[in-house]
Amino acid sequence: MSISMMGGVKHILAKLFPRLLKIMGAKVYSKEAREFFITIIKQSIKMRYEHEFSGPDVINTLLQLYNVEKTRLDIISERIVEDITAQALLLYYTGYETTTFTLSMLVYEIILNGGIQTKLYEEIVGTLKRFNGTVSYDAIMAMEYLDNVVKETLRLHTPTSLLDRRAMSDYEIESEDPNEKTLLVKKGTPVWILQKAIHLDPNNFPNPEKFDPDRFSYGNKQNIKNYSHIPFGSGPRSCLGYRHGMTVVKLVITELLLNYELLPTNNTYVENSSKTYNVINHGIWVELSPRRE
Ligand code: HEM
Repeated sequence: MSISMMGGVKHILAKLFPRLLKIMGAKVYSKEAREFFITIIKQSIKMRYEHEFSGPDVINTLLQLYNVEKTRLDIISERIVEDITAQALLLYYTGYETTTFTLSMLVYEIILNGGIQTKLYEEIVGTLKRFNGTVSYDAIMAMEYLDNVVKETLRLHTPTSLLDRRAMSDYEIESEDPNEKTLLVKKGTPVWILQKAIHLDPNNFPNPEKFDPDRFSYGNKQNIKNYSHIPFGSGPRSCLGYRHGMTVVKLVITELLLNYELLPTNNTYVENSSKTYNVINHGIWVELSPRRE
């Protein structure tokens, strides 16, 4: 599903003026896209009804939340199907794109930084020796350098662009410059927090364009200010899939590095490597060279 220019504009309008869009009856996604996903959910519900299946999955949980009895799945209302589709789509968007994006950028940083790849590989091999050679959850969690590399990737190449909130009360933001006026954010104002602006602020991370996983090392992490590293957001609406996302990224990289050395190719873009947008535009070219050990 491609996102058109108009789709992008509607997305922004939906965030800024959700009620206006509702009054106008405008939909963010095209009819074709909506019908595609609604059909998938309908088929899944039909399959559950016909085969009396109820797995411990998201659709089942949502059906329970709506108090839909198993015997009445054939007459489920369009409204509930739409709601379940919206939730399933949200999970797909939030979970899939973010994780694959992080993986791509992590691979990119690894191929540009040979020393980091060697250190990572040595940590992976060393840790697995302590865990009977098995790639398990506990083994992955014991890899501190891998954790630092993933966090640094998420700082420099944050998969989401902003966090959106609404001010619950009037709030004053004082300027650092005494000649500038205090900014009043009125109750109800939509607030967008640009993650990358915070991640690339030299007051938070010195030499911010540099990929340096050691910023997050055990000895350095006390220097990281609260709310200065927010790839998963923060507060009660922060990412629900934080653990899942981190675990998947770490698992895939561990398996990849165990079996291959990742190398740049002649096409790999190196000029402005900290500029995520440029990197994506050029594509991420990588050679997988099988390890022989
Ligand atoms: C590297 C991977 C991921 C990153 C960087 C990421 C990032 C984010 C961010 C920035 C938010 C908004 C948080 C806020 O506004 O404070 C968010 C929300 C969310 N994420 Fe993730 N995410 C990742 C993986 C996942 C996965 C794997 C899932 C599900 C399986 C997931 C499910 C969600 C959900 C449901 C929300 C909405 C939470 C709410 O509104 O209460 N995410 N994520």
